[in-house]
Amino acid sequence: LITPVILAGGSGTRLWPLSRKSYPKQFVRLVDEQTLFQASALRMAGRSGALAFAAPVVLTNSDFRFIVTEQLSEVGIDPGAVIIEPEGRNTAPAILAAALHLLQADPEAVMLVAPSDHVIPDTAAFHAAVAQGLTAVAAGDLVTFGIQPDRPETGYGYLELATPPDGSGAPVKLARFVEKPDAARAAEMLAAGSYLWNAGIFLFRAKDILAAFETYAPDLCAPVKAAVAEATADLGFLRLAPGPWDGAQDISIDYAVMEKAPNLSVVPFAAGWSDLGGWDAVWREGAQDDNGVGLSGAATAIDCTDTLLRSDSANLEVVGIGLDNIIAVAMNDAVLIADMSRAQDVKKAVDALKARK
Ligand code: GDD
Ligand code: MG
Repeated sequence: LITPVILAGGSGTRLWPLSRKSYPKQFVRLVDEQTLFQASALRMAGRSGALAFAAPVVLTNSDFRFIVTEQLSEVGIDPGAVIIEPEGRNTAPAILAAALHLLQADPEAVMLVAPSDHVIPDTAAFHAAVAQGLTAVAAGDLVTFGIQPDRPETGYGYLELATPPDGSGAPVKLARFVEKPDAARAAEMLAAGSYLWNAGIFLFRAKDILAAFETYAPDLCAPVKAAVAEATADLGFLRLAPGPWDGAQDISIDYAVMEKAPNLSVVPFAAGWSDLGGWDAVWREGAQDDNGVGLSGAATAIDCTDTLLRSDSANLEVVGIGLDNIIAVAMNDAVLIADMSRAQDVKKAVDALKARK
């Protein structure tokens, strides 16, 4: 039995204006009928061949707790636990808290940690990869999932394979984990050909990740253990104790553990994966016509190419004429118009607006 641990506490500023601090991208309908959060919960539910998933543990903050329960019930999933972090402290404390929570009930618990803001269209391929990972998990490894890189992306972790994959899909030992390299290092790793991107999904036994935290991030253990031990049940939510949680460092699992632990494996994942890290990715993953035009809501394109036009307002018609490589997203209170190549700079717009307030 595998327990999905869904991380749903991030804020997704690069998809402004759709993604807001109060309602971030994982809870928004972006490319499908379901929200990304719902899709990730459904991807890890029920049974599939030899795999069986337990009810998910969701980690989020207080503001999103009712969005989480409402969106899960919409797709018929009963959460095992919704754990509330008093403050976002990044992924390391959150994952450690989930591991400690699961260990209270089952010393052999296996957890599949997944972000809530990814697109993985082929669920069967994903399940096959998870099943492959279980062999390495049984040997005590921390398992990552690796994506074939196609550009020197600096926003991802890189996984150096100790040996070339044999094509069977079986886990491969990792020589190194490099989180978010600078541009020069990323270009080197892409050219070397022996690296995969870290998909941000992890599979391990709770006791093995706890041991890794105790060795490589010992300072996190005392505050997080206390926050879990003193957690209070509140309307079906498990609220971590704010006092001790305050003492936990803000750090991601990638820096806290993955860059340091020697017992890492990767399952190569060749089916599609996107972290929808910007509007260009939403355009790429969504439906397009023959000219590369993606439309959503009340949007009309005339003689446009490679363009995303979106209205997320019932009152606004969006019309593009003669556009090439443009992103236009209209909402009731904000309109974004950007060159497709500048999708990553949407973050700057959010910073600029924040500074003006
Ligand atoms: N509950 C909770 N609490 N969730 C969080 C928190 C937190 O404090 N911080 C982030 N998350 C969630 C985000 O919502 C997202 O779903 C996931 O954890 C990963 O966090 P990101 O902030 O999006 O990480 P990243 O994209 O910079 O990097 C990670 O993902 C890449 C792939 O998308 C790393 O694992 C990289 O190595 C990886 O390549
Ligand atoms: Mg991310």
